[in-house]
Amino acid sequence: MGRSAAVLPLTLALLSAAAAAWDLRALRCSFTADCECGFGPDLRGLECELAVTLVGQPLVRRQLMEGLRQFLEKRSPEKPLVMSFHGSTGTGKTFVSAMLVRHLFPEGLQSPHVHQFSPIVHFPHAEHVERYKENLKHWIQGNLTNCGRSVFLFEEMDKMHPGLIDVIMPFLGPSWVVYGTNYRKAIFIFISNAGGEQINEMTLDLWRAHQDREEISLQDMEAAISKAVFENPQSGFWRSGIIHEHLIDFVVPFLPLKRHHVKQCVINELVQQGLEVRHGVVQEVADSIPYFPEEEKLFSSTGCKTVASRISFFF
Ligand SMILES: Nc1ncnc2c1ncn2[C@@H]1O[C@H](COP(=O)(O)OP(=O)(O)OP(=O)(O)O)[C@@H](O)[C@H]1O
Ligand SMILES: [Mg+2]
Repeated sequence: MGRSAAVLPLTLALLSAAAAAWDLRALRCSFTADCECGFGPDLRGLECELAVTLVGQPLVRRQLMEGLRQFLEKRSPEKPLVMSFHGSTGTGKTFVSAMLVRHLFPEGLQSPHVHQFSPIVHFPHAEHVERYKENLKHWIQGNLTNCGRSVFLFEEMDKMHPGLIDVIMPFLGPSWVVYGTNYRKAIFIFISNAGGEQINEMTLDLWRAHQDREEISLQDMEAAISKAVFENPQSGFWRSGIIHEHLIDFVVPFLPLKRHHVKQCVINELVQQGLEVRHGVVQEVADSIPYFPEEEKLFSSTGCKTVASRISFFF
């Protein structure tokens, strides 16, 4: 958790006291275009970094860039950008979300306008759900008043108590400008493992049909993911109005990674650590990782997640 995690309880307590200040700021924002708060999107830089560092995720690149382009070219978007990242462990969801915010705000995750939520840290107790709902609503409202370009990242959605996330529904749609605050310029990103099984199954079916992973139908995958998370009580989106009302603009599927992708991750990691890229090490690290399904051993069970820690064993 970054700085936002540490300041959350304190700032929540100060929220009501700060309400008057927001109103003043909101009033000023309604008369000037001075509310972009350091927001400086660099789409070309993002595209370039994705192309160089992200392996095996053709749909991610496509969905992310298209979503951002469509959204950012509008001076006055009709609704906030809402994206949902899905996929099994180690496929790059957190990696991409951090890269994305680095190309929206120069300070990246350290920016005061980037807010990360993790259920285990921020919403740990089921019996306090009603309080969490109130806090979350106020936190989002307060920060959007302060900076209409705020980014909200919801990590580990599958650990979110059922029903909790629906409290933010009013911020995700084409709501009216309230007290001069334009809620429609914000970016919301949900991240979860839910839907990962469906993604893996579809990718496997495609492989068995001798088709390339680039040929996966995004529409089919999107439908399968939405259905899976809506029907799964452990997805954070169980029977959620966010799914039912189609408030997610872009579903971003992270495909399971194959052995050659893992090898690429090993090479990237060696280069990043300033170590020599030795063929033997790359091979050994990739071989030390478990693969599924049992028979074909095609996809890495942990994606590239354990690559960095394994390198020291083999180097
Ligand atoms: N597709 C990828 N391309 C390049 N590197 C990757 C990719 N996926 C994962 N990695 C590497 O593995 C590390 C761990 O990945 P990351 O934390 O993004 O996984 P995750 O999908 O968020 O997993 P989890 O669901 O467990 O949170 C990253 O920091 C990155 O170094
Ligand atoms: Mg993650």
